[in-house]
Amino acid sequence: MDLKTELNRRRTFAIISHPDAGKTTLTEKLLLFGGAIHVAGAVKSNKIRKTATSDFLEIEKQRGISVATSVMTLDFKGMRINILDTPGHKDFAEDTYRTLTAVDSVILVVDSAKGVEEQTRKLMEVCRMRAIPVMVFINKMDREGKDPFDLLEELERELKIAVSPFTWPIGNGSDFKGVYNLATKSIQLFTPGKTTRSEVLLNTRDIDDPLLKDHIGEANISKLWEEVDLAAELFESFSNNLYREGYLAPVFFGSALNNFGIPELVETFLSIAPHPSGAKTAERKVLPEENTFSGFVFKIHANLDPNHRNRMAFLRVCSGRFERNKMYYHTRLGKKMRFSAPASFMANDKSTIEEAFPGDVIGLYDTGNLKIGDTLTEGESLHFTGIPSFSPEILKEVVNKDPLKTKQLEKGVMQLTDEGLAQLFIQQPGNRKIIGTVGELQFDVIKFRLEHEYGAKCDFQPLPFVKACWLTSANKQKLSEMIDRRAATIAFDKSKTPVYLAESNWVLKIVKEAHPEVEFHDTSEHHIREDIVSNDQV
Ligand code: G4P
Repeated sequence: MDLKTELNRRRTFAIISHPDAGKTTLTEKLLLFGGAIHVAGAVKSNKIRKTATSDFLEIEKQRGISVATSVMTLDFKGMRINILDTPGHKDFAEDTYRTLTAVDSVILVVDSAKGVEEQTRKLMEVCRMRAIPVMVFINKMDREGKDPFDLLEELERELKIAVSPFTWPIGNGSDFKGVYNLATKSIQLFTPGKTTRSEVLLNTRDIDDPLLKDHIGEANISKLWEEVDLAAELFESFSNNLYREGYLAPVFFGSALNNFGIPELVETFLSIAPHPSGAKTAERKVLPEENTFSGFVFKIHANLDPNHRNRMAFLRVCSGRFERNKMYYHTRLGKKMRFSAPASFMANDKSTIEEAFPGDVIGLYDTGNLKIGDTLTEGESLHFTGIPSFSPEILKEVVNKDPLKTKQLEKGVMQLTDEGLAQLFIQQPGNRKIIGTVGELQFDVIKFRLEHEYGAKCDFQPLPFVKACWLTSANKQKLSEMIDRRAATIAFDKSKTPVYLAESNWVLKIVKEAHPEVEFHDTSEHHIREDIVSNDQV
């Protein structure tokens, strides 16, 4: 097939949710529905189990297993679907945020009883930042949940996105009868535990229809029609353009566990979700249909086994055709590289591939040349942008416990932070190394890996900071004045961008007011964006 055809049949997306909303269950039901797996439990067994939260080694081991589910590729109705998995554990949230740089759309799962939760909010912030099209699946309708109007208003208010219901629930919890499909004007009846497509009852709005009365009861019928009319007034009608621009989210109600609401979700997804689109580089915009290959690394998976130092870099193909054994140009290092065993992930099996197309994610074995954000091309000097680092919430200083192994420690800290496990900031005087993460777990992982892979020993000294903000200013003079004046709370990231370390949100507010000419950023993507604007090429 030619590049254009391959491109048009690809859909690359992620399923995201606050832990426990049902992401794993939905992923599994989608794979079952698409025929990629045949037994329930295949995805679940790869999930980081809740009982293991205090045991980081166990979690890492499970993460090792979950390499297979990092990307799940399936062919369905002539389409090539790539589902990118995101870790549920909140300490790996940054991994999830970065994975979102490699997708063209997302399905957001919300628990009908809990509504919008902390991770839902954070994940949506990232989607908004990147204008990723979002579809919402309100799950667990078989349980007592919130009123649908309250839920949809909560989504609009908390997630700052307009919603357009595609289905409307009839009752909930033990009284959940099914959904009314607003597009096809038909009712899907809910039968708990049913694994095939639910039966379509009627294509009618006839209140007196005896079948309707039998199945859902008179009171439910009149309530449904009232609600459907009110919903049509209150919520936006669907517009593909608004969806594609990330302003409007189609909403579906269902129950992943009971396999209810999945076909409607999949069919709508296949008909409206975008195929791979263009991507920004610091130099120009790259279009997927360009003939020459380009792609970027968004995730590195290290092997915990010290005898096998190899790592797997996950690369998203952005344009052209990737081929096995062809020489590609690593634009950061300015050197050529060849990959003899690029991996793809069909139906949970890792296998070597000959070629890949835009939207595909491939695994490249690497011994330390690739880091997050790296670009590969056929020779053009491009640098993909928009692979952000997020403000860490826990900051600790690295204390060397074995002065004879200083070099090993330096190397280890550099490499592990290149993998995206944590962020490194350097503070002067004395080259103090500060590690920033979103979760405590990473400190245990870093300590363990420094010892086992690099032979270095360290401790972490807690620091009284709760946030790191990247600093930029059009007025260089004012910026260096601030850096001098607040030296004790200033550090520099790996690319030498200054960072302000805030002791509390209150202090941050005061400091911002004291330096109105300086901009404080929660992600490190902003200054890349400024570069693009100043280059004026995209
Ligand atoms: P996550 O990946 O978002 O963390 O969620 P996951 O799918 O693991 O689901 C979390 C819990 O919610 C699981 O129960 C799962 O069975 C349940 N669940 C998912 N979808 C539905 C649904 O539609 N209705 C109901 N009632 N429950 C649902 P668990 O007891 O925590 O795990 P397990 O013992 O079932 O594996």
